[in-house]
Amino acid sequence: MNRTLVIIKPDAVERGLVGEVISRFERRQLRVVAAELRVIDVATARRHYAEHEGKPFIDRVVAGLTRSPSLILIVEGPGETWKVIRAMIGATDPAEAAPGTIRGDLAIDMSENVIHGSDSVASAQREIAIFFPDLA
Ligand code: CDP
Ligand code: MG
Repeated sequence: MNRTLVIIKPDAVERGLVGEVISRFERRQLRVVAAELRVIDVATARRHYAEHEGKPFIDRVVAGLTRSPSLILIVEGPGETWKVIRAMIGATDPAEAAPGTIRGDLAIDMSENVIHGSDSVASAQREIAIFFPDLA
């Protein structure tokens, strides 16, 4: 079994989409093996999005990720779980995301795009260590 990190972002928690998103994972036979609802602090958000440091959107993205509680998950499945989940999430810009994907069905705005999913095995390991150090 392989594990990956998912963040149901503040915009989605605020809209009451937690159940919808988790249902999609469960229907796909992926398992939630850890979950924590918490407000991500600015330092942790910047560490999480370190690859985007210096880009024009970083301050807006960090503000969005820290403004209210996120539901942070470790999701487990067979094979390349991070890849399956990225396919379920859809394109970064919801306007480009295919119908049937989480962003393609539930979002319209790039900075309110519902969910984060790790983009590789290495990212999954790095991000699990940030948010669930006891489980890394
Ligand atoms: O989330 P994903 O891995 O698909 O995209 P990313 O390129 O790693 O960017 C992280 C997040 O920054 C995105 O999910 C968007 O919410 C936000 N973003 C943005 O607001 N404007 C951009 N031009 C690029 C990303
Ligand atoms: Mg990313």
